[in-house]
Amino acid sequence: MTPLLQVDGLTKRFKERTVVKGISFSVAEGSCAALLGPNGAGKTTTISMLAGLLQPTEGSIQLRVGGKPVLDRRPYIGYLPQMPVFYPWMSGKEFLNYAGELAGLTTREAALKTGEWLEAVGLGADGQRKIGGYSGGMKQRLGLAQALIHRPKLLILDEPVSALDPAGRKDVLSLLQRIRRETTVLFSTHVLHDAEEICDEILMIKAGEIALQGNLEHIRREYSEPVIRMEVGGEKASQDWLASVGNKAFVLQAEIAGTRAELTVADVEQASHELMEDAVAHHVIFRKFESGQSTLEDLFMKVVQA
Ligand SMILES: Nc1ncnc2c1ncn2[C@@H]1O[C@H](COP(=O)(O)OP(=O)(O)OP(=O)(O)O)[C@@H](O)[C@H]1O
Ligand SMILES: [Mg+2]
Repeated sequence: MTPLLQVDGLTKRFKERTVVKGISFSVAEGSCAALLGPNGAGKTTTISMLAGLLQPTEGSIQLRVGGKPVLDRRPYIGYLPQMPVFYPWMSGKEFLNYAGELAGLTTREAALKTGEWLEAVGLGADGQRKIGGYSGGMKQRLGLAQALIHRPKLLILDEPVSALDPAGRKDVLSLLQRIRRETTVLFSTHVLHDAEEICDEILMIKAGEIALQGNLEHIRREYSEPVIRMEVGGEKASQDWLASVGNKAFVLQAEIAGTRAELTVADVEQASHELMEDAVAHHVIFRKFESGQSTLEDLFMKVVQA
């Protein structure tokens, strides 16, 4: 299938600093892609280029509509910036109307869509209120309505939930879940959990380069490794023993800090067995012993810290 969005060798240099370093990726129609990365990775810079707000230094961005590349992609894109700015004196309804007309809708269409979208984002009862009195979650929902009012092919969101409290976050994520059934979505976040909740594709960037990309399920399966997590008591015998477990032959990788350890092993059952036997022999007191698989979070942390 031809992708909706195709990005090749995208690069951004500010003076002598290159902050996006020739990244390439594509987004399939109907998918939800998360652009993941730590602070300063280049997410906002990348998104600004995709949204047409920032000129790339090099590389190409192509949006296909009905299978054909379009010359000007902006009418087909809905965009919500990381820190949206609203006129506090406008009402939500006035703002949406204004956004609709800016996006090219006729006065009538804009009025019609404003009503529909206020309802859709749960602001039906607050449309007449001034935006200055809205909560963070309400503003973010209004921002989403603004980005969607002209029915874009691709919705681009820069950290749509990072500034929200848990309730606002839940609101916006469930709204996104609904939207993503009809619209292709690309959103940036530094919270892996948010990506996992709604996306099927991930694109991890670090220092302007792609560190990992692909289908979420696929990555989860491919990178998931057997791990053992342990916590021991504070006594010397236990701590000494824990400090030494990294040297065992069956341990592929060990992260040991104080009374806790996380071991990546080849075979969990064999490793559990040997560790237990050895621990008993050394009079170790366990507070926790857990065997399982490494999570996407572990992988994310590994990629970010590498
Ligand atoms: N206009 C600019 N001029 C110079 N450097 C810039 C400019 N905009 C961004 N940068 C630098 O580019 C790098 C990437 O910034 P960007 O805002 O894209 O990161 P980010 O991944 O969105 O981070 P965050 O998670 O904090 O939002 C940073 O080091 C930043 O200082
Ligand atoms: Mg950013």
